[in-house]
Amino acid sequence: MAQKKGMLWASYLILVLVLCQLQRARCDALPNVGINWGALTSYPLNPSTVVDLLKNNGIKKVKLFDADSWTLSALAGTGIEVMVGIPNDQMERLSDIGEAEEWVRKNLTKHLRNGVDIRYISVGNEPFLTSYGSKYTGSTLPAMKTIHEAVENIGVSDQVKVTSCLNADVLVSSSDKPSDGEFRGDIKDVMKEMIEFLDYGDSPFFVNIYPFLSLYLNPNFPEELAFFDGSGKSFEDKGAVYTNVFDANVDTLVWALKKEGHPDIKIIVGEVGWPTDGHKSANEDKAKRFYDGFLKKLGNKQGSPLHPDVLDVYLFGLFDENLKSIEPGKFERHWGIFGYDGKPKFPIDFSGNGDNKMPVGAKGVRYKEKKWCVLSEDVKDLDAVYDPYGYACANADCTSLGYGCSCADLDVRGNASYAFNQYFQVRDQSVEACDFNGMATIVTKDPSQGTCKFPLAIESAATSLKALDAIIRSLLLGLALFFVTFM
Ligand SMILES: *[C@@H]1O[C@H](CO)[C@@H](O)[C@H](O)[C@H]1NC(C)=O
Ligand SMILES: *[C@@H]1O[C@H](CO)[C@@H](O)[C@H](O)[C@H]1NC(C)=O
Repeated sequence: MAQKKGMLWASYLILVLVLCQLQRARCDALPNVGINWGALTSYPLNPSTVVDLLKNNGIKKVKLFDADSWTLSALAGTGIEVMVGIPNDQMERLSDIGEAEEWVRKNLTKHLRNGVDIRYISVGNEPFLTSYGSKYTGSTLPAMKTIHEAVENIGVSDQVKVTSCLNADVLVSSSDKPSDGEFRGDIKDVMKEMIEFLDYGDSPFFVNIYPFLSLYLNPNFPEELAFFDGSGKSFEDKGAVYTNVFDANVDTLVWALKKEGHPDIKIIVGEVGWPTDGHKSANEDKAKRFYDGFLKKLGNKQGSPLHPDVLDVYLFGLFDENLKSIEPGKFERHWGIFGYDGKPKFPIDFSGNGDNKMPVGAKGVRYKEKKWCVLSEDVKDLDAVYDPYGYACANADCTSLGYGCSCADLDVRGNASYAFNQYFQVRDQSVEACDFNGMATIVTKDPSQGTCKFPLAIESAATSLKALDAIIRSLLLGLALFFVTFM
């Protein structure tokens, strides 16, 4: 009898193991698909919560924009490959070898030793963006060189590659066709040198490619070309046929590299994605359509006409970031595949199998109390609302208001309420933040309507860390008391 029971247990255990294995295989993201993890948000999630989210979705590569110690510690021992970044405004300082060595000691050596699998360092982020003018043209390459030297000095230059993530507008094409691709005139010389540096160090060329921006920047752009479902449109260039602008952008780079005499540099797409709000073409349906087509293409191991091998890519991005600059457009704060609180927005299958399923969201996120700040019903003079509304929007995120956005249908009162609430939530629901000359009031019923969501703040990661700390302390104290009392 006991034996039989044992057998039963054994087979049950095996079944569980097999199921887990199956489950796991199905959950795994494509090995060449990573994701960008930006932190320009008032609602940062606990890094270990984010790392669990990555693991639960089988994502094994992540790209950061700095070298935040807390974040990197959470990635230690996970087997997740990491790209760290150096912000643009640090490049000048780091062009000094002493400073570069200090950076490597503080921000690389320590974490490598702790088991963080750092593979790339991006020196600067889109430093040659046209809108920056020549601000970083002089400091990017010198900083890449000193950081590389510092990495070489500690003997890890085979493992950790030094590069810089560049925006697609480092490239131009007079005819818009890939074959006329070359590097932009004002940075041509520095690009030539950078490519030599990359080729010599066996480092990849990271480029950010955004079909959404092709559409956003050019109202006459044929929308179908931004997607991958081949709805008819195509164009030809020197025998190659293009059905989407992503491939055309990749091949523009292939041509430019070939013309500079370095055709074999590995290309990696540092950012690619679709926003879900802040513009009429930015919504969840279109984002889903974009990612569906893109991930299926990667799943089928399809490259572009001139780069037939499938590319390594980093999706942009994990979460909405309400502190990003909206100079490029209101959509900038809505790139998340997950919302600010780690909730998935739409079905996406990172495995490239094209299953219509929601990804696994962040677990254990704690919201603040169910309290919202809205325009009081007593306010009748709507002209008086204008100033406080402007103040709220200048200090909080109002990018979901306006034409084509998720809160486009609100009336003047709705607009004001939305703005007041955004301000109230980023101020951690402090009572003083819901005044607005006495025109605002706190309510406990969710004022969200239709697609327009009035968010609730979440407990900050630092606070929950403190809470955890408190729990651990009291457990330890309890344990100590137990020993003192009973041993
Ligand atoms: C290490 O990285 C952090 C975060 O990116 C940065 O603030 C700091 O200045 C870096 N340390 C050094 C010595 O450069
Ligand atoms: C609400 O605010 C948006 C963004 O400022 C504006 O475009 C829209 O016209 C406003 N709606 C009303 C009814 O005032």
